[in-house]
Amino acid sequence: MQAIIDKLELTHNLSDDEFAALLATISPDDEKYLSQRARKVREKCYGRDVYIRGLIEFTNYCRNNCYYCGIRRDNAHVQRYRLTAGQILSCCDSGYQLGFRTFVLQGGEDAYFTDERLCELIREIKRRYPACAITLSVGERSKDSYQRLFAAGADRYLLRHETANKGHYEALHPAEMSFCHRLQCLRDLKEIGYQVGCGMMVGSPGQKIEHLIQDLRLLQELQPEMVGIGPFIPQHDTPFAQEAGGTVSMTLRLLSIIRLLLPNVLLPATTALGTIDPKGREKGLLAGANVLMPNLSPTEVRKKYALYDHKICTGEEAAECIRCLAARVESTGYKIVVSRGDHIDKEGTKIR
Ligand code: 5AD
Ligand code: FES
Repeated sequence: MQAIIDKLELTHNLSDDEFAALLATISPDDEKYLSQRARKVREKCYGRDVYIRGLIEFTNYCRNNCYYCGIRRDNAHVQRYRLTAGQILSCCDSGYQLGFRTFVLQGGEDAYFTDERLCELIREIKRRYPACAITLSVGERSKDSYQRLFAAGADRYLLRHETANKGHYEALHPAEMSFCHRLQCLRDLKEIGYQVGCGMMVGSPGQKIEHLIQDLRLLQELQPEMVGIGPFIPQHDTPFAQEAGGTVSMTLRLLSIIRLLLPNVLLPATTALGTIDPKGREKGLLAGANVLMPNLSPTEVRKKYALYDHKICTGEEAAECIRCLAARVESTGYKIVVSRGDHIDKEGTKIR
């Protein structure tokens, strides 16, 4: 198995059979070797720095009905909220003081947030904090809309592809959602010039090894600057309430594989990973991740943005989160830095 891991590190590619071998159960020794190699590659590119992104969950209204997601349209048990522009800006203000130089505006697909409203918000954040990057995570929109948001100053866009297999996509989403459109959105975002993040849940219902291989192939093709992966965690008010969740070990293994596949990728150790294991985020960093996305949302709304059950950090203020994270990061031998934390391209220069 170590020869396969070396080959992946060297060529950033494997055959389907080799990927399958790596994704099927591997020995603890091989697991250790895989994460060591991933860490080496991460350190070669980004040193010991950990980038932080201030996550602002600004609306939990959503027009979509994904079977796995707690804020899906049909979940009548969610108390819906929208932050005002003033509330969002005050999250940025406190985040800036705490050392954040990237703000991630994440929300459900909420028609209230027209291009006009979002553009105005983006321009105001950029006016106040010209040194900060803005990442959007607001789902599928038209290319025109993506273009306007980019022109207003958005730098990055997160849109997980969720699964690269069409049939599996259709098992995770109602018929009104289209796999082709999702991929088109990712291509549009790339073309416009965003730093783009895609990604998938690990262990989502019906996920097979062959689907994960297709996910890895999609990453090879799309060459995203960021990849967000975390375990699927059932949410009690969704159609997938009774399904099994993803595992820590599979998530860690995929983090390491993705690091070797895309050496310079920005790879978060996600809150979902921290939710299924109290040391999940630390383990993620030690498996090749180099980004953390703590919550900057006002404490009053955090519990309402429950994509999955038992989400951590919903009772914490932003300042507590950052202190707690700093201690966690230190325990791994890495350190949080005050930086935009842009993607470093293959020539070693920052993309702006
Ligand atoms: N468990 C884990 N991750 C989830 N997401 C949505 N619902 C869940 C869940 N139940 C992820 C999706 C989405 C991202 C914002 O959160 O991958 O793209
Ligand atoms: Fe939020 Fe630890 S990261 S309390």
